[in-house]
Amino acid sequence: MAIAEEHHAKPVQPAPEPSLAGYVARFEDVPSLLAAAEKTRDAGFSRFDCYTPFPVHGIDEAMGTKPTRLPFIVLGCAAMGATTAIALQYFTNAFDYKYIISGKPFFSIPSDMPVTFELAVLFSAFGALLGMLALNNLPRLYNKMFLIDPFAKVTTDGFFLGIEEEDPKFHPEETAHFLNSLHPVSVDPCMDPHESEALPQILLPLAAFLLIVGLIPLVLVARMRAMPSNVPRIEILTDMDFQPKLKTQRLTHVFADDRGMRPEIPGTLARGDFYADISFSEGLQTGVGDEVDRTQLLPNAKNPDGTTVNLSQVPWVSEFPLTVNAELMARGQERYDIYCAVCHGLTGKGDGLVTQRAMQLQAASPSVGTWIKPISLYDGPIKSQPVGQLFNTITYGVRKMPGYASQITIEDRWAIVLYLRALQQAGSGTIDSIPAEEQQRLRAEVTPE
Ligand code: HEC
Repeated sequence: MAIAEEHHAKPVQPAPEPSLAGYVARFEDVPSLLAAAEKTRDAGFSRFDCYTPFPVHGIDEAMGTKPTRLPFIVLGCAAMGATTAIALQYFTNAFDYKYIISGKPFFSIPSDMPVTFELAVLFSAFGALLGMLALNNLPRLYNKMFLIDPFAKVTTDGFFLGIEEEDPKFHPEETAHFLNSLHPVSVDPCMDPHESEALPQILLPLAAFLLIVGLIPLVLVARMRAMPSNVPRIEILTDMDFQPKLKTQRLTHVFADDRGMRPEIPGTLARGDFYADISFSEGLQTGVGDEVDRTQLLPNAKNPDGTTVNLSQVPWVSEFPLTVNAELMARGQERYDIYCAVCHGLTGKGDGLVTQRAMQLQAASPSVGTWIKPISLYDGPIKSQPVGQLFNTITYGVRKMPGYASQITIEDRWAIVLYLRALQQAGSGTIDSIPAEEQQRLRAEVTPE
């Protein structure tokens, strides 16, 4: 018996008596609630609230609620997001990993704007949500008001005004009296049952259990990644990994030599690659096809004795191998402006934007790169080159300039050569090279009246 008593020695705290936590008055409709709120505000109460089934216009003013501080929180978060984005972009692009991309500046506010905008919006969205929750003391799963019977009507047609016991002006009798003077439907005391605020005991072990269960998939994935296994891995969707095609340097048993990559078959061409007219497809004079070794036309090609191939010795065509007309010229101008002007400049002088930028960078820090400035296309040696050679330059490139065969079709390459010829004409032209009426029109344009 004594042992059992010792067991119960820990005194059981008697639950404290429920105490008054405030009063709640119910009103018939919105106007009477608004009037009551105004009177409560004017009576000097500060810790009171209104509870309605829907948002009521003007209730903030009637209650004397101060404007929310949320906008400042959101503004702060937006500034933080924008600063983070700018700092991140500065660090990655202009500090930690400088990388020239088409001569663009490393750090430039206009091009950093999209990321900056996005991060500012993201941070403000978080700020708005979390700030709203924090300012409202949310989330809160329990409210003393729920214990008042008629309070359930707040979700349908009840309009309530509650004054809390913490209000400095609260008085157990006078406040009830005051509320009754506002012509409510009813006034109810709100009792605080003083229930323990400790979490239910099961909650912690339950949370720990769920956490451990939640970690199991991650642990399994980590184990699979780290441990070698000869069992094929589980593939849920296989069509991306296993496609019915051969990749470079893979085996196949389709061919006798087991090679997936096939060498070119001598004397054949890929579909669509055959042009009977070698002057059109290569810019070479017809009839020389078999005598010219195509590898000798590539940039930096070498003769067997080690000297660089002299491209001016190749039998290039000097006449355009296709019909030349205004349409081809217009196409050539358009293509030139797209593909060539960035480096060679709109007039072919060798002052394109990329060139200018690269020269600037190079002047600022000579170690940055070794940009070769393209020479002028409209005078000097390029002017005397046959059209076939110009065509070949676009096709395969020359020295430091890359080839454009993969981007520009054969016909467009000829169109560009035609436009180059026009640029060269214009470069050495005088006013007398253009028709008389054009001259007059131009003079009228440049001479002020
Ligand atoms: C990325 C910049 C760049 C672009 C784009 C570019 N070029 Fe060039 N080009 C160069 C450079 C650099 C050189 C000088 C190469 C050298 O001397 O090593 C050059 C040289 C040339 C030459 C002189 C070849 C010779 O025999 O000396 C011609 C002609 C030419 N380019 C035409 C074109 C045409 C036409 C286009 C448009 C399809 C074009 N380039 C696009 C950079 C460019």
